[in-house]
Amino acid sequence: MVDTHCHIFHEYYDNIDEVINKMESNIIIVNGTNINDNKEVLELVKKYKNVYGALGLHPTEIGSSYEETLLFIEKHLNDEKIVGIGEIGLDYHYTLENKDIQKEVFIKQLNLARKYNKSVIIHSRDAINDTLEILKEYKDIKKDIHSFSGSLESAIEFIKINCRLGIGGVLTFKNAKRLQNIVKNLDIHSLLLETDSPYLTPEPYRGSKNEPYNIIYVAKKISEIKGISLEDVLSITTSNAISQFDLDKYLC
Ligand code: NI
Repeated sequence: MVDTHCHIFHEYYDNIDEVINKMESNIIIVNGTNINDNKEVLELVKKYKNVYGALGLHPTEIGSSYEETLLFIEKHLNDEKIVGIGEIGLDYHYTLENKDIQKEVFIKQLNLARKYNKSVIIHSRDAINDTLEILKEYKDIKKDIHSFSGSLESAIEFIKINCRLGIGGVLTFKNAKRLQNIVKNLDIHSLLLETDSPYLTPEPYRGSKNEPYNIIYVAKKISEIKGISLEDVLSITTSNAISQFDLDKYLC
């Protein structure tokens, strides 16, 4: 199995070794959000065989020195085991005042993805329409809409423009009927498993700190919703992740 999106950083975990080794040979894709954790991504991919990385500047982390962060990201995009640009996107939840700069930074990173032929991991909060509008210009890039939370209609729109949807712990929540219905109706080949650790812990551990190993509870829920064996859910979503992030060149 592959946890396609998480933030396993020292800021959140006392014992990173334990959290990562519990996954054994299962793959973890750690996503950066700012200059400091992007640096940590580079260290983690060197240290752990099963860890791959994505570098990105998150919309809520855009500060005055964002240009420096973008240069850092570009400089390291061709490093070994850096498989994508993320977590990037738009977040209008806290403020609408910096919409323009958010869009500019998002587009700059999409252009980097095109230039270096990388896949992207997208955060979109209260900004579905602008996200869709921008991504329509980037159909050629493989995109993961992480922790998807939109409608079935928007899910279909995203899939049409070369996106897969990241599905995490929220799926297991009692009140997640809409997301469960979306998962039921979509082709499993369009789905990626993720945890977004340390956040969004699935049932039965909701409320405690999340970790990549908990991805198994998301897979179990998909198996239950779609009436497919757990084994098939794991094997299909693993091949989805391998193709999404071109992991095959590392796995032979
Ligand atoms: Ni995240």
